[in-house]
Amino acid sequence: MIQIRNYRPTDFSQVEDILKLGGLFYEQIDNARALEKKIEHNPDTIIVAVENERVLGTEVIVPDFFPFIFRLAVHPAFRKKGVGRQLMQRGEEILRSKGYEHVNILVASNDLELQEYYQKQGYEKGNTYTWMYKEFK
Ligand SMILES: CC(C)(COP(=O)(O)OP(=O)(O)OC[C@H]1O[C@@H](n2cnc3c(N)ncnc32)[C@H](O)[C@@H]1OP(=O)(O)O)[C@@H](O)C(=O)NCCC(=O)NCCS
Repeated sequence: MIQIRNYRPTDFSQVEDILKLGGLFYEQIDNARALEKKIEHNPDTIIVAVENERVLGTEVIVPDFFPFIFRLAVHPAFRKKGVGRQLMQRGEEILRSKGYEHVNILVASNDLELQEYYQKQGYEKGNTYTWMYKEFK
């Protein structure tokens, strides 16, 4: 049976693989220490879908002024079985339980299939932005 639970540091290598396979792994952001630091004070802000302790998917929740769900990824061998949907639902429940009344996601503007996936889950399109970032050196 698939279970959604909080991420544990021992899940890291499986989560890293799943993020890599989903094209969502950025070493500077998603390293083991950064994930540990994130869950130190908010243990329910990284969640995983597991079956017999095998990690099937993951998701990162950012409960802040403008709440976000990031890094939704499911191992390719377990896609199209509703795991992604379960992770999204749990992420939304977690934000609701913290008093938030909305959630945001960022989807690549050329990935129409993924946009449709989220639309089916009740997400509406906002403006299109360009991602900009700065590394602190
Ligand atoms: C996007 C992603 C997380 C979706 O995960 P997933 O577990 O396959 O998603 P779900 O199973 O919940 O839904 C996928 C489809 O399978 C369908 N599905 C659900 N249960 C099913 C079942 N038992 N049998 C067949 N299809 C099923 C869903 O209805 C959905 O189809 P639809 O879009 O036509 O409605 C996954 O494709 C992924 O990891 N992609 C790469 C990373 C990525 O792009 N992440 C998003 C970053 S914004």
